[in-house]
Amino acid sequence: MIEMQNVYKKYPNGVTAMNGIDVKIAKGEFVYVVGPSGAGKTTFIKMMYREEAPTSGSILINGINIAKLKNKKVPIFRRNLGVVFQDYKLLSTKTVFENVAFALEVIEEQPKIIKKRVMEVLDLVGLKHKARMLPTELSGGEQQRVSIARSIVNSPKVVIADEPTGNLDPDTSWEIMKIFEEINTRGTTIVMATHNKEIVNTIKHRVIAIEEGIIVRDEQRGDYGYEA
Ligand SMILES: Nc1ncnc2c1ncn2[C@@H]1O[C@H](COP(=O)(O)OP(=O)(O)OP(=O)(O)O)[C@@H](O)[C@H]1O
Ligand SMILES: [Mg+2]
Repeated sequence: MIEMQNVYKKYPNGVTAMNGIDVKIAKGEFVYVVGPSGAGKTTFIKMMYREEAPTSGSILINGINIAKLKNKKVPIFRRNLGVVFQDYKLLSTKTVFENVAFALEVIEEQPKIIKKRVMEVLDLVGLKHKARMLPTELSGGEQQRVSIARSIVNSPKVVIADEPTGNLDPDTSWEIMKIFEEINTRGTTIVMATHNKEIVNTIKHRVIAIEEGIIVRDEQRGDYGYEA
């Protein structure tokens, strides 16, 4: 469902962040993306949701080459994709409910259906009782749970996460991982960049290691492979 072929990315400042990436990720997989700081993990993730376009090569998502996607088609493409960030990126003036509902309002879903679906995903992340609160009234772990709820409210086939536990303490990180596991068990493909050695070595999944813009290792049930 995700396939990169011979992907290169050179940023305008001359830095080459992707140096010939070939990879295939099948439906339902859970993939960790690891590697040293500056290796190209975020660039890899950004190209999957077309935050950045590759300089050359193709990126097929469900058969569509998003490298060639016209800018005006990007929002429609992203509807089939959930994205989770290290710093949550919630809208601070909107309640938890509104943050999650937003993606469904954009597609003009019926209010009744929006309510039902938002409460369903808030329940999944354990935050139904905080639907009326503002993000500033929540802990970091709770904010990340809201952002995960937001990422899955559209029932995307793929969820992409860039260091989703990067700002969280170990206990909270495990709680967040439980939610990703649950989402993956229900059939959603997950691609997650992470520096969390403990998690990668404990909850075993495919590991793709990137160094200097190249995939240097790709193992099923792999180890983190670096010192934390
Ligand atoms: N917008 C940008 N413009 C120019 N260079 C960039 C840009 N974004 C990233 N880079 C460079 O591309 C390389 C890869 O960066 P990237 O953010 O993908 O690394 P990373 O593996 O996510 O690192 P970290 O673990 O620190 O998050 C680095 O050399 C970085 O400086
Ligand atoms: Mg990064």
